[in-house]
Amino acid sequence: MELLIKENLGAINALLKGKSAEEIIAYFLNKLGDKITFGTSMGAEDQVITEIISKIDLSAEVFTLDTGRLFPETYDLIDSTARKYKIKIKTYFPEKDDIEKMVFENGINLFYNSIELRKHCCQLRKLDPLKRALVGKKAWFTGLRRSQSVTRVDMQIVEWDNNSSMFKINPLIDWSEKDVWDYIKSKKIPYNILHDKNYPSIGCQPCTRAIEDGEDVRAGRWWWENPDTRECGLHE
Ligand code: ADX
Ligand code: SF4
Repeated sequence: MELLIKENLGAINALLKGKSAEEIIAYFLNKLGDKITFGTSMGAEDQVITEIISKIDLSAEVFTLDTGRLFPETYDLIDSTARKYKIKIKTYFPEKDDIEKMVFENGINLFYNSIELRKHCCQLRKLDPLKRALVGKKAWFTGLRRSQSVTRVDMQIVEWDNNSSMFKINPLIDWSEKDVWDYIKSKKIPYNILHDKNYPSIGCQPCTRAIEDGEDVRAGRWWWENPDTRECGLHE
């Protein structure tokens, strides 16, 4: 029976319930081969997945969306991760003509001016390149966790992603933040040094700040906006 079809989402999630991240990742790499890819923002969760993928199949595809506005620390991690695991991290950039027009019309830091302009920037710098990254695929792995955000509490291991019209596989969906960090420390996985400076969730530099003690892990992302608009559209 073909399990990975929209109608069988309940059955496939039931089958994978209680399985380890290693088992979930191995299952889909075996099943889908080069029809599955992994999108990494180089966040802590993503580094766990890169470690697991690299132990199973060094030729599995890993991509990142370079918005052009990332932290220098993130670029260093892209480089050191590719070297450590001896993998190529396929990097997608935005279309230069679109960015030149957007910045000419709205200014370089347009995202602070309105939610519409912020979303426009995310569209051109992340969502449009994501479309190119997913051409020809059936599914992509993400590092999403349910406890990251109120917007993520209903997510499952396998989801149908309306945005990309394909399946999204979230092997760490049930992991806590502590699970992630225990795994990183036990396997000595490289991570973004900003995590040690109170940046639990890291995106683009102008749209990410450190959090205060007791704040939500995503409080530093688009911090000037209302909490329920704080998604870039990759996972809405
Ligand atoms: S975001 O929507 O707020 O930016 P978040 O940073 O929590 O997302 O990341 C969730 C997951 O989305 C990551 O684990 C990763 O799989 C994917 N992702 C986010 N940003 C990128 C990126 N720049 N490149 C590739 N994948 C990304
Ligand atoms: Fe633009 Fe900020 Fe979105 Fe990055 S996070 S794409 S800089 S609006």
